[in-house]
Amino acid sequence: MNKNPIVDLVDEHKGIVTMLNIMQKITSKIQKRENIEKDHINKIVEFLSNFADKCHHGKEEDILFPELTRNSANIPLINELLGEHKSGRDYIGGMKASLHDFSTGSPGAYHIAINMQGYITLLVSHIQKETKELFPIADKEISENTKNLIEEKFEELESNIIGEGKHEEYHGWLKMLMSIYLGKN
Ligand SMILES: [Fe+2]
Ligand SMILES: [Fe+2]
Repeated sequence: MNKNPIVDLVDEHKGIVTMLNIMQKITSKIQKRENIEKDHINKIVEFLSNFADKCHHGKEEDILFPELTRNSANIPLINELLGEHKSGRDYIGGMKASLHDFSTGSPGAYHIAINMQGYITLLVSHIQKETKELFPIADKEISENTKNLIEEKFEELESNIIGEGKHEEYHGWLKMLMSIYLGKN
């Protein structure tokens, strides 16, 4: 059966966008000096660092992008996306740097909210760019055979970085945070 790695990335974008919506609620609560459980912030930062960055951006940077830069016309777009991944990492670093000082109304809480807001704005436009510009190019320029190979490499990278059990755990966190902050089950 043919596998399409683009479908995999689109599914991951859906999970990341859900987390961005949760983070949007949390940043406005922090700005209103409402109490947020620190454990929720810890879980979000781990999700962003391992799932969104190491796993999802890792699949793009290590496996998909090198395939697309064989066509030099794609290099400017890929460089733009790589720069955005790097900025995303800086925002996650900013959140991590203030985790030790997260409590209601603390400077660390506001620093985390500012970094979350920057990350949300960046990732919303990044995901739109990949959906509208990158994925159609990938779909058109990559052969079915290579798509199958890419999917195999994606699965390998995912099990090396996250592992089956952890992946399920992240889905559980997403569900739990969705029901708390978005009122959805
Ligand atoms: Fe990306
Ligand atoms: Fe992406």
